Amino acid sequence: MFCSGLFLFGCKQNAMPPSETLTPDMQVVPVLPDPPLPYSQWNFPDAWLDDPALGLFGGGGDIEITDAGATLGRVLFHDTRLSADHSVSCGTCHQPSHAFADANPASVGISGVPLTRNAPGLFNLRYQRRLFWDLRVVGLENQVLQPIGHPDEMGMDLDALPGRLAETTYYPELFEDAFGDPQVNLDRIMDALVQFLLSIRTYQSRYDAGLANGFADFTESEMLGKEVFFNGESRCNQCHSGLNFFSTQPFINGLEVDYAAAGDGGIGSLTGNADDDGRFKTVSLRNVGLTAPYMHDGRFEDLRAVVDFYSDSIQPHPFLDERFSENGIGPPGQEPYRLELTEAEREGLVAFLHTLSDTTIRTNPAFSSPF
Ligand code: HEC
Ligand code: HEC
Repeated sequence: MFCSGLFLFGCKQNAMPPSETLTPDMQVVPVLPDPPLPYSQWNFPDAWLDDPALGLFGGGGDIEITDAGATLGRVLFHDTRLSADHSVSCGTCHQPSHAFADANPASVGISGVPLTRNAPGLFNLRYQRRLFWDLRVVGLENQVLQPIGHPDEMGMDLDALPGRLAETTYYPELFEDAFGDPQVNLDRIMDALVQFLLSIRTYQSRYDAGLANGFADFTESEMLGKEVFFNGESRCNQCHSGLNFFSTQPFINGLEVDYAAAGDGGIGSLTGNADDDGRFKTVSLRNVGLTAPYMHDGRFEDLRAVVDFYSDSIQPHPFLDERFSENGIGPPGQEPYRLELTEAEREGLVAFLHTLSDTTIRTNPAFSSPF
């Protein structure tokens, strides 16, 4: 929970009276750079932009990033005023220090009722059009207002939101900078949040440095882990693939024999098809060292537990992806492979996964809370 915005009243949830009862000079205001940071000029490196596979994933929609628009989005993202009782911001569950994932297995919003899934990291979203663990929403523009209205997340009456923001000392000016006049409306709130999310790019990991220098700085253990990841037997890179270690395809990776019975059927809960039971988004492994806990329900506390799972205990799901069978081909639902990795290989795979983290994301002032 972001307490810094509440310092006037101490760091206690719900301790702050509604903004309506605050005089303007009592309001906690964001501290922003002037001129705004040059969000519009930042982009992915050429290697990403020119990559034909990544190009196929293209998914930013039509919204263009401007300096003032992304700045406004940054403020909105971190502002607890977007929730009914002023206690929760997007950043409460999507924490910069965890690459915008939640360190709690199940996020908790204003109602105190835990959500059923782990909040994923938010970055490189230009390269994914379908959102949520079950891919149920297409396009950020259709997603970003949902958590604000959701009763267990931010619980805000969306119709009342523009009025509440317009009353503050700072939003009218930020909306004017971003959109030409001070009018606050839901369409503009959506647009600015999307601009901010699209601006969160991450590609400065030790792995990226390794691509440039032939992995000269990798330890022996990291090299061994890289070998296991790419060697064709583990098939890790056949799903978590390309520069973004991601796939637009959802897969069943055998956490359960029967996911629906275990509580969450993923895409199967939406379609009702047995061969979709447990089919979930193949999340990007970028920053995976920062986004613990792991899987859609945050069941694994650390990367070692994930590696042990893939090595030893993939479950015999009736539609388990064929990449997890002994020979890696054929129909789904075969006997799961047993990699039986050695201790050194396990440690190496964990070490390699840590090289995918771009730690600048944790403190980059372009993304951090301005409050
Ligand atoms: C109470 C915690 C909570 C809050 C507050 C919250 N989120 Fe989330 N967010 C989640 C969870 C949990 C998921 C995964 C839900 C699912 O997949 O069914 C998620 C998923 C997402 C995704 C999809 C990411 C992906 O890779 O598919 C985006 C984008 C997102 N949130 C943006 C936001 C924005 C913007 C806000 C603020 C307006 C916000 N969230 C507020 C918990 C939260
Ligand atoms: C057949 C496709 C497939 C293969 C092969 C595969 N994965 Fe995954 N991986 C997935 C899917 C799908 C998920 C999400 C599953 C869920 O949450 O229910 C996932 C989740 C993960 C996560 C958790 C990420 C997070 O943020 O929660 C890690 C770490 C991971 N995989 C690493 C690996 C490693 C290491 C290998 C090789 C040993 C591997 N994967 C092989 C599809 C695959």
